[in-house]
Amino acid sequence: MYNIINFEQIDSTNNYAKLNLNKILDRTVICADSQSAGRGRFNRKWVDMGRGNLFISLVLKPSCVFEKNYAALTQFTAVILCRIFEEYGVQPEIKWPNDVLIDGKKIAGILSESVIKGSSLQGLIIGIGINLNADKDSLSLVADKKITALNVELLREYEDKKLFLDKFLYGFFSSYDRFLSGGFLCIKDEYSKRCNFLSERICVNLLNKQVKGIAERFTDSGELVLKADNGEIILTAGDILY
Ligand code: BTN
Repeated sequence: MYNIINFEQIDSTNNYAKLNLNKILDRTVICADSQSAGRGRFNRKWVDMGRGNLFISLVLKPSCVFEKNYAALTQFTAVILCRIFEEYGVQPEIKWPNDVLIDGKKIAGILSESVIKGSSLQGLIIGIGINLNADKDSLSLVADKKITALNVELLREYEDKKLFLDKFLYGFFSSYDRFLSGGFLCIKDEYSKRCNFLSERICVNLLNKQVKGIAERFTDSGELVLKADNGEIILTAGDILY
């Protein structure tokens, strides 16, 4: 169903996937025990909080052209993660498009990248960082950001990384084919119900400006519809500031 490549140490699983894309098979999972240069969206760093955390990149090669459904793979991945967190008894929420939070604190992030040459899609890389294990010291190192880890939320010593990974990969690949043909619409309700910011007034950072308005709903392709003073704005990407 999928292949796994494991590394003890790597700069970034997404970088490895990009650099080696032409020799990596479709549905390959790149896993690392530790990452020295993990990347997040908008060139942010993804901090390595230790070996008990998950750093993975999924390499997907569904076709040679970029189909519009692929644009919501980030949202699909967020829903799969939420389902698993809920199995553990915590209540995740999604910050569009790619953050999974618990009680307002980030527990997982997704960095989706596509590699296109000319008009040909070489592959999609879905990078996922999941905070499964942290201690108070490592959380305080990134105290400027509101982050948490599963063991902290569950008041437990250590979460089993292999168990979580197996659950995630099973959840992802058992719904993936259905998602490829159905797109965001397959998960729209599940995604929307976990977005607590809907109906709130929010401010979204775009590449070179900020827009404000009421977060109304998602389109059937996973874009965020914002009701601004001067009409509706449809956002394909962005960073919700508040
Ligand atoms: C974000 O929240 O901005 C996305 C964070 C994604 C981090 C993961 S960790 C595994 C993979 N490799 C990377 O360099 N980044 C992603």
